[in-house]
Amino acid sequence: MTTKNIQQRPDKKRPATLSFDSQAVHGGNLIDATTGAIRTPIVMANSYKLPDDPSTLDWSDSQTLFYTRNSGHNQLCLERKLAAMERGEDAAVFSTGVAALHSIFFTLLKNGDHVIVSDVTYEAVWRLFNELIPKRYGIEATFVDISDLTAVREAVRSNTKLIHAETIANPTTKVADIGALAKIARDAGAMLSIDATFTPPPIFRGLEHGADLVVHSLTKYINGHGDAMGGAVISRAELIRRLKGDALVGVGGSISPFNAWLIMRGSVTLPLRLPKHMSTAQKIADFLDKDPRGAFVAYPGLPSHPQHELASRQFGSMGYGAVMAFAVKGEPDVQNRFVANLRLITSAVSLGHDESLIVHVGKAGRGGSECYPDAFREYGHLRLSVGLEDPADLIADIEAAFDETFAR
Ligand SMILES: Cc1ncc(COP(=O)(O)O)c(C=O)c1O
Repeated sequence: MTTKNIQQRPDKKRPATLSFDSQAVHGGNLIDATTGAIRTPIVMANSYKLPDDPSTLDWSDSQTLFYTRNSGHNQLCLERKLAAMERGEDAAVFSTGVAALHSIFFTLLKNGDHVIVSDVTYEAVWRLFNELIPKRYGIEATFVDISDLTAVREAVRSNTKLIHAETIANPTTKVADIGALAKIARDAGAMLSIDATFTPPPIFRGLEHGADLVVHSLTKYINGHGDAMGGAVISRAELIRRLKGDALVGVGGSISPFNAWLIMRGSVTLPLRLPKHMSTAQKIADFLDKDPRGAFVAYPGLPSHPQHELASRQFGSMGYGAVMAFAVKGEPDVQNRFVANLRLITSAVSLGHDESLIVHVGKAGRGGSECYPDAFREYGHLRLSVGLEDPADLIADIEAAFDETFAR
């Protein structure tokens, strides 16, 4: 089916590793041997032709193409690209970010194990560790403020097998010190998995800071266009082989070839999109920080953020992501009025899309909300994912919505 891949052409005159921008364009892309198409075509097949003697095939194998739940042509291309972008040995792609997260927990943990989980995580992870996994599988979880490294160290037990955190946590934007957490995990004989959805490469490459597994919801920045769902884990080849065997082949949750292809295409422009997302986010955060009608704004790029220094050190000069939490002064109905008054920014869940999205998350009743800062609990909060629109248009939209909300 396929012939050459630009990554595999040895040549003394050219660098051994392509730059991130070049990886984003060429990574994983294969020229189609049948048609000569220079972009990997979508292969919408459930099954691939078996070898002459299929009786010796390992039905859990995910490298040989024979059944699309195990693997597929577009899935393998996307995995190669993501592994190159994260500088990991291998990657596994799934139907959603949550399926990717679950693959780690399902494969690496067993009855009697203990996990340390950040007290602020994406809600589905909170629910998995607060309710489902402990009750169903007898795995204990301790939620810890991962910005308190002493507390993390003290939470380690002899049966601790995994520490899990988000580089920048959804929704409060708490920043995890990945190098420090990796050391604690290593000392404990445990693994560190990080959800880096808010900080895709080149902002941050967690494996280089000691994480064992990096997860992305591909639904967000890596696809970037709000039209496909997917998830990925990037790690050592041996761990990826286990995740695929147990969680992909054994549980399902495989990404469709079409979505893998869409994400391949969307990710081509990641290096161009991210700087724009982040510079606009910084401008909006600065604006919200100064407007007296705003109750608070949590964004790691603001010096007032409790972990601004850590974020600056960890993410270097790249930026601070493009998601922030803020509230308008007033009760929940004021937050709803403010959102209703926005014209350019859309009220919808998800993040990392080309268009700016806002969601009123509310005060309570959400996973982990007791760990949120006081301001979040007093006002509730709005989560804003800053898109690719002109920053002046976005700020004008927010300013107009403030004016209309407070004019009554
Ligand atoms: C940080 C983070 N991780 C994981 C997910 C889950 O991704 P998906 O919706 O693709 O399952 C989300 C979704 O919002 C997220 O924000």
